[in-house]
Amino acid sequence: MASKIVGLGMYAPPKKLTNLDLEKMVDTSDTWITERTGIKVRHIAEPGTANSDLCDKAARMALDDAGVDPADLDIVVVGTLTPDMPFPSTACFLQAKIGATQAYGMDLSAACSGFVYTLSVADALIRAGRGKKALVVGSEILSTVVDYTDRSTCILFGDGAGAAVLTECPEGEGVLSCHLHSDGNLWQLLQCPGGGTVHPYSPEMMEQRLRSIRMTGNETFKHAVLKMVDVAGEALDRSGVCIDDVKLFVPHQANLRIIQVVGKRLGIPEERVFVNLDRYGNTSSASIPIALAEAKAQGRFAAGDLVLVVAFGGGLTWASALMRM
Ligand code: UT7
Repeated sequence: MASKIVGLGMYAPPKKLTNLDLEKMVDTSDTWITERTGIKVRHIAEPGTANSDLCDKAARMALDDAGVDPADLDIVVVGTLTPDMPFPSTACFLQAKIGATQAYGMDLSAACSGFVYTLSVADALIRAGRGKKALVVGSEILSTVVDYTDRSTCILFGDGAGAAVLTECPEGEGVLSCHLHSDGNLWQLLQCPGGGTVHPYSPEMMEQRLRSIRMTGNETFKHAVLKMVDVAGEALDRSGVCIDDVKLFVPHQANLRIIQVVGKRLGIPEERVFVNLDRYGNTSSASIPIALAEAKAQGRFAAGDLVLVVAFGGGLTWASALMRM
């Protein structure tokens, strides 16, 4: 058996942070942010919100969309770099919140590639007979790890969650192939160094702003373009399909310029490339499932269409999945 997405959901907290708001916080401008990134607005969770609260809302929408009872789930996997706590996993909190009493849960850390990694793991578990129904979620409260005095990063990131319900299906439908890669030698390009065992919590660690995202933007940009093009090609080659067969390309939403260059190099017309980063910014592991949920709601793909998702993030990690919806 293979696995198939049968329901999608998303949630973004109501509070918005616009480019004009950021102009008042750091030395930046709406023009710079729009021209260099394509981002206009990000959503920010209120203090005291848990990541699993966002997961809960996205998951309920996906379960409704799928018509699946949470008590029938076998697997819950959450991709995140901003978990509720070091442990228990955010997936366990989510399991309790939605009442997925029969499921087993785990978190997965692959930064912005988190959702495609969780999708691949859940797909593999279903194929291996370790469950028939899975909830896969990408969810982040990145505002808890953003340094709002660093103009090179604070303009990029937002909060949100996206979820998908996967069920068993015959081979040849659903998830056709997944491709995961990482290169730990390039970890320094994109990191949040504090709060783990290398730099445990301490007043000094917080003072040095180590508990926030640091990125070498232009180097990361170059790797993002190369790796996303490569891993998209890998998915197409492995499945013996060409880019013209793909109804919708859903890339990680980090920067509009990255998306445009990748789309151009793959030879896919703009109208078949999904973009929503103007309204959410970069939500890391949540970006692809939020995009998929919106694309479905907008009728951007229909049953039987091929959808190609491609992710890239810290690690470095990069990944793709080709799906017949
Ligand atoms: O999700 C995981 C993957 N993430 C990515 O793939 C992100 C990849 N990187 C990027 O999206 C881009 O590199 C950024 C948007 C982060 C930066 O854009 P850039 O065109 O690469 O700019 P840059 O870092 O090369 O900086 C160019 C200039 C610098 O000034 P000088 O040295 O030329 O005087 C920066 O200090 O722009 C300046 N700058 C800003 N100016 C106004 C940097 N941030 C800002 C800002 N507002 N917010």
